[in-house]
Amino acid sequence: MQIRILFYIVICFLAASNIAGAGQESIELHYPPDRTVTEYDILNLSLEVPEGAADLIMVAVDGTDRKKIIPDTKYECFSVRLKPGTSTVEVSAFKGEALVATFVRYVFRRSDLISEYRKPPRSYNKARFHMEDRPDCKECHVLEASGYDKKPISPSTFAAEELSSEKVFTATSTCYSCHNNILKSSFVHGPASVWSCLSCHDQNAETKFSVKQPLNDVCYDCHIEQKKDWNSKKYIHGPVNVGNCTICHSPHASDNAFNLFKSTWDLCVNCHAEKATGLHVLGDAFFEKGHPTKGRKDPVRIGKELTCASCHNPHASNYPHLWAFEVNDLFELCKKCHFDK
Ligand code: HEC
Ligand code: HEC
Ligand code: HEC
Ligand code: HEC
Ligand code: HEC
Ligand code: HEC
Ligand code: HEC
Ligand code: HEC
Repeated sequence: MQIRILFYIVICFLAASNIAGAGQESIELHYPPDRTVTEYDILNLSLEVPEGAADLIMVAVDGTDRKKIIPDTKYECFSVRLKPGTSTVEVSAFKGEALVATFVRYVFRRSDLISEYRKPPRSYNKARFHMEDRPDCKECHVLEASGYDKKPISPSTFAAEELSSEKVFTATSTCYSCHNNILKSSFVHGPASVWSCLSCHDQNAETKFSVKQPLNDVCYDCHIEQKKDWNSKKYIHGPVNVGNCTICHSPHASDNAFNLFKSTWDLCVNCHAEKATGLHVLGDAFFEKGHPTKGRKDPVRIGKELTCASCHNPHASNYPHLWAFEVNDLFELCKKCHFDK
């Protein structure tokens, strides 16, 4: 009797392990791995869903439902947006009412602009996607770049040039099929807008597709005028001086003019918090509110709002405190906008 029960248990065990071993039957999250680090707000996910294995996929970020997918292909590839810092991404697959699979991934989105998110927590590592062979993706996607991924582009001729239509760029781009979401914002950087991704990303770099450092060399390769202009100035703004253009500008796209990560004012006070009051311009017993630094019209740059950049050049200047005007003292500065004074 006991032997028969034991025999039965062994059979059950073998049967169960056989099911678990039948790879093509199980739902698998191929990307991302757990505790990875991203630079930008888009996280790509790729889920293998064998035919009939599930009829609904739910995706939640930090407990809030973000996506509802009815699986209709063997692979479901999608993306979700992430806030800076740590997020918990939960993918659940249902068949009928039953939960058939769940995957939980902790992901860290780094941000240079927020000091507490500059460095990932200790257990997190950047999973460099393109450093592995990825046969599971190559079945449907191309991963090796072609000549179409680098185009000759110059800021001085860009606006005037007759560029072929957007459709041509996306159809010929190797990167588009997976990274199309990277440009879904209102202000898109010139070379990115024509999917010339290899203008900056190097396919032959030791870390595949990494960008040459220092970064300002990459930017100045094309922005030759700015390079000449700013380097000839007496004062260069701290972050520009160390070549950190992308602490303020997205190289791809953003919802702010000039592809800035935040609107100009928010960007400036991000690092110069104490200047938000305007007390540094006008601050004494008489003007205790300080000088306005936003929410008014710029009297000089017609059509623009008053911001920190109305008085300061964000890159470089020959005048004290990076003044945006050719003035050497406070009084002259005030006169630029207050003509009657
Ligand atoms: C069976 C074919 C197939 C395989 C295998 C496959 N994909 Fe996809 N993938 C697609 C298709 C088709 C699309 C386009 C979907 C669309 O246009 O809505 C896509 C789109 C994507 C996207 C863009 C998602 C978005 O939000 O627009 C990413 C990212 C992606 N795939 C990553 C991967 C990765 C990583 C792998 C390997 C782990 C992989 N794919 C394997 C077919 C596949
Ligand atoms: C099969 C889909 C796929 C294709 C095609 C693809 N990528 Fe990626 N790439 C990814 C995924 C997934 C990541 C992981 C980070 C993420 O979620 O965006 C990634 C990450 C990256 C990174 C960050 C470094 C790394 O290796 O993780 C760079 C840079 C990059 N891709 C550039 C490119 C460029 C340039 C092209 C076109 C020549 C390209 N990719 C084509 C899916 C793809
Ligand atoms: C003007 C230069 C430039 C262009 C053009 C450009 N990139 Fe980037 N990209 C960068 C820089 C800089 C980074 C920051 C990471 C680094 O320094 O490697 C980056 C990072 C990325 C990342 C990685 C984010 C991460 O999590 O590490 C992806 C993905 C990416 N780029 C894809 C693309 C794609 C796709 C295109 C084409 C539409 C493109 N890039 C065009 C400069 C550029
Ligand atoms: C391959 C050439 C190329 C590289 C490299 C490049 N840019 Fe650009 N950039 C352009 C073009 C082209 C435009 C669009 C000019 C236009 O719209 O007339 C542009 C526009 C811009 C603008 C907006 C200017 C405006 O008046 O709206 C900013 C900001 C910018 N680039 C910053 C950068 C930064 C930061 C880097 C480095 C990470 C960089 N660029 C690298 C070609 C390049
Ligand atoms: C401290 C943040 C910051 C840094 C760092 C920075 N920029 Fe800018 N940049 C700005 C702001 C803000 C504007 C918009 C100014 C305005 O409103 O007129 C701008 C405008 C631009 C423009 C378009 C207008 C112009 O002046 O030509 C270009 C091109 C540009 N930046 C390139 C760069 C490059 C290249 C670097 C690195 C060498 C860089 N920026 C570093 C904040 C920054
Ligand atoms: C990423 C952080 C960062 C951002 C964003 C930033 N700054 Fe700065 N800023 C610095 C650093 C670092 C210095 C140099 C430290 C010092 O000299 O006090 C500096 C110095 C300055 C100075 C002093 C120059 C002098 O000679 O007295 C001015 C003015 C200034 N920034 C204005 C701005 C304006 C305007 C913006 C928005 C367009 C801005 N900053 C955005 C980091 C930043
Ligand atoms: C109306 C013109 C004006 C505006 C707008 C303005 N500033 Fe200033 N800023 C000045 C003047 C004038 C000085 C020199 C003050 C002095 O010498 O006492 C200065 C000095 C500075 C300095 C360097 C000196 C110091 O006290 O550390 C920084 C940094 C600075 N401003 C940042 C900002 C930021 C950030 C904003 C936006 C929130 C801004 N400014 C808006 C006129 C302006
Ligand atoms: C870039 C242009 C600009 C510069 C430079 C500038 N201001 Fe102003 N100032 C403004 C604007 C815009 C307002 C708001 C006017 C309005 O709302 O009608 C303002 C308002 C004021 C006010 C009224 C304050 C209030 O609460 O309405 C005073 C006083 C003033 N400025 C003094 C100065 C002094 C002193 C300087 C030199 C240190 C200076 N401004 C430099 C643009 C400027």
